[in-house]
Amino acid sequence: MASSSSFLLVFLCLFFLVTSSVAKTSPRPLLQVTKDTKTLQYVTQISQRTPLVPVKLTLDLGGPYMWVNCERGYTSSTYIPARCGSAPCRLLNTTSCTTGTTCQPPVPDCFNNTCGHGPDNPIANTGTSGQLGADVFKIQSTNVLSVLTVPRLYFICGNNFINDGLASGVTGIAGLGRTGASLPSQLSSYFRFDPKFALCLSSSTRSSGAVFFGDGPYTLLPNVDASSSLTYTPLIVNPVTESGFLGDASPKYFIGVKSIKVNEKSVKGFNETLLSIDGEGKGGTSISTAHPYTVMETSIYKAVVAAFVKAMPKNVEKVPNVAPFGACFSSKNIVSTRLGPAVPSIDLELRSKNVWRINGANSIVEVNNNVLCLGFVEARTDFAPTISVVIGGHQIEDNLLQFDLAASRLGFSSSLLGRSTSCANFNFTSTD
Ligand SMILES: *[C@@H]1O[C@H](CO)[C@@H](O)[C@H](O)[C@H]1NC(C)=O
Ligand SMILES: *[C@@H]1O[C@H](CO)[C@@H](O)[C@H](O)[C@H]1NC(C)=O
Ligand SMILES: *[C@@H]1O[C@H](CO)[C@@H](O)[C@H](O)[C@H]1NC(C)=O
Ligand SMILES: *[C@@H]1O[C@H](CO)[C@@H](O)[C@H](O)[C@H]1NC(C)=O
Repeated sequence: MASSSSFLLVFLCLFFLVTSSVAKTSPRPLLQVTKDTKTLQYVTQISQRTPLVPVKLTLDLGGPYMWVNCERGYTSSTYIPARCGSAPCRLLNTTSCTTGTTCQPPVPDCFNNTCGHGPDNPIANTGTSGQLGADVFKIQSTNVLSVLTVPRLYFICGNNFINDGLASGVTGIAGLGRTGASLPSQLSSYFRFDPKFALCLSSSTRSSGAVFFGDGPYTLLPNVDASSSLTYTPLIVNPVTESGFLGDASPKYFIGVKSIKVNEKSVKGFNETLLSIDGEGKGGTSISTAHPYTVMETSIYKAVVAAFVKAMPKNVEKVPNVAPFGACFSSKNIVSTRLGPAVPSIDLELRSKNVWRINGANSIVEVNNNVLCLGFVEARTDFAPTISVVIGGHQIEDNLLQFDLAASRLGFSSSLLGRSTSCANFNFTSTD
């Protein structure tokens, strides 16, 4: 008895030693992300199919799953359609089912007895229908020598129609949203790591940022672990998706912003209930990589712009606006600092009683050498805005955002420029 339990103990110790050393050194999946100069989309690349082909995808933080344009020459000997009612179909909560083939020979978007879902293009705001299927999927990792393979990664096969507005060469969307079918969920369940991922977008179109799947450390040169000293705030579930699939929660990530300050003074003049999500799923604050700049509902936008203009030092000259921005300034009397142009700070005061500070590097867009604009835009009024504040790409660049799906919380670093590093400083050629 005693000897068998001590044997068990030794065995367990060995087991934990081996697994913990594996956990430390095993490479984790990673997306290398570049900003497209023309469209300002964040673009990444994976490989898929047999034989393997590289596939460029636009990143969509709030997208429910990956989708790919299958109409444009999808050939693969390993494609598997998802049978109606199967577990992968249930991941999408989909009741749509194709019966009877519509193409001969069957191609990936028209198999018989296969479930589907309507993929959305968050850039062009269009949607269509597509089928769910799986194929071989390869993704880069934190170790350049190790490319990771998922034999069956589920995605939606869409058609040419949905490709509108995507950056040159892009044929799909990498959805990182809050669903069981998104890339973070499928990767964490296949590789068995915590359902966490981190977004670190580069502000430069000449250097890459990254999406790290799994837990930190996320080490940026010169040896800064961007996962240390994060501030945490709960991720809020919006119970209603905008496309109105009944009963489904929104795949987008929402945080609880309570009020907004400019130069430490509360912005007045808008109804703060707009910052909460109402019974119909409207309002609130989400984070998006599909919007290059933060979009605000009109009354919030006007109040923030007025407060920002008022807080600018008197010797800074206001100049004509450059679309799409609503407040532009001469750069003449604005000094540059490590955290970008020295302008009034913008604070998002969170219900969790902490603050997301936006400094000049993230609030200001340098339109040209002489003109700096506040990089926020007004929500289009030709269709009713549903989300009151959509924090866009420019405002999250060079900040590390860690999405912890199990704990339902967001960890944010604030500008990494303050720590003398940036999201462009990950070593993609590391062999560690
Ligand atoms: C499916 O429904 C469940 C329960 O309503 C929900 O938690 C989940 O997010 C839904 N999945 C998708 C992909 O919408
Ligand atoms: C489509 O699948 C259904 C269910 O498996 C089957 O009954 C039907 O015969 C199939 N139709 C075609 C055209 O293959
Ligand atoms: C703010 O908006 C809410 C919801 O639309 C409304 O019930 C409330 O009366 C408004 N408050 C003010 C001060 O206008
Ligand atoms: C990146 O990692 C590789 C391999 O580990 C190393 O040789 C190289 O010096 C690193 N690059 C930088 C800039 O530190």
